Amino acid sequence: MSSDVYEKLKKCESCIRRVTDFIPEVAIVLGSGLGDYADTIRVTAQIPYGDIEGFPISTVPGHDGRFIFGYVGDVPVVCMKGRVHYYEGYEISDVVLPIRLMKLLGAKYLFLTNASGGVNTSFHAGDLMLITDHISCFAPNPLIGANIEELGTRFPDMSHVYDPGLQEIIKSAAREQQIFLQQGVYAQLTGPSFETPAEIRMLRALGCDAVGMSTAVEAVAAAHMGMKICGISCVCNLAAGMTANLLSHREVQAAADEAAPRFKRLVTEAVKRFGEMQ
Ligand code: HPA
Repeated sequence: MSSDVYEKLKKCESCIRRVTDFIPEVAIVLGSGLGDYADTIRVTAQIPYGDIEGFPISTVPGHDGRFIFGYVGDVPVVCMKGRVHYYEGYEISDVVLPIRLMKLLGAKYLFLTNASGGVNTSFHAGDLMLITDHISCFAPNPLIGANIEELGTRFPDMSHVYDPGLQEIIKSAAREQQIFLQQGVYAQLTGPSFETPAEIRMLRALGCDAVGMSTAVEAVAAAHMGMKICGISCVCNLAAGMTANLLSHREVQAAADEAAPRFKRLVTEAVKRFGEMQ
């Protein structure tokens, strides 16, 4: 099974290499609200996911997924506009394929972003949260199956998934930009249903600060390959049972849109500083 996964990955890589020889330094996954982040970068190439043989295509209607290659300041980046989620029905190996692909293209750093529900009672809708660690064990581990030796080791260490140096850079960029930044542990559940109030109480008891339906499995696959990872979550709502409101995707999207200008500024300022890191 693993060699099939690797073969598919190498095919995707050669599809992209037929279009561009761009070598990104930083891979950025654009979550809800950051969809138009590409407008702020100097774009050199774009590849719709549909043009990449074997690449998982989002089932969400109107989702135009694509890789965008270009520069944030002087830093070469590849952005994923649109990601696939496990709840769409893909194999977990397909969910993380894009992350692995961006590493094969040359990216050493991975900047993950997402929308989440706040579990920590001191959070507010619209807060940005630096991800300091995650709980991934509610979703299948993307490394299950024969190990792909070309990518990494069988039992990778997960002590520092979110790179302490990158976290410091993000915190100092936030301070300088006067952007308020929470920090905490992100839990990935599969979705697509939002959680129940009892599940949220469970997550809080487990030490989670925010919950969402992506990101942690991507971080596991990236850590397997030795990427330096960081993540910021846009806390779009307080999670189920924490307010009288029912949760809706529309509310989540509206909060993500409101936070977008701040979120984009923070990502940009942080990525520019990654270029100064060794
Ligand atoms: N739960 C899970 N995922 C989410 C939420 C939530 O409350 N808000 C945004 N993404």
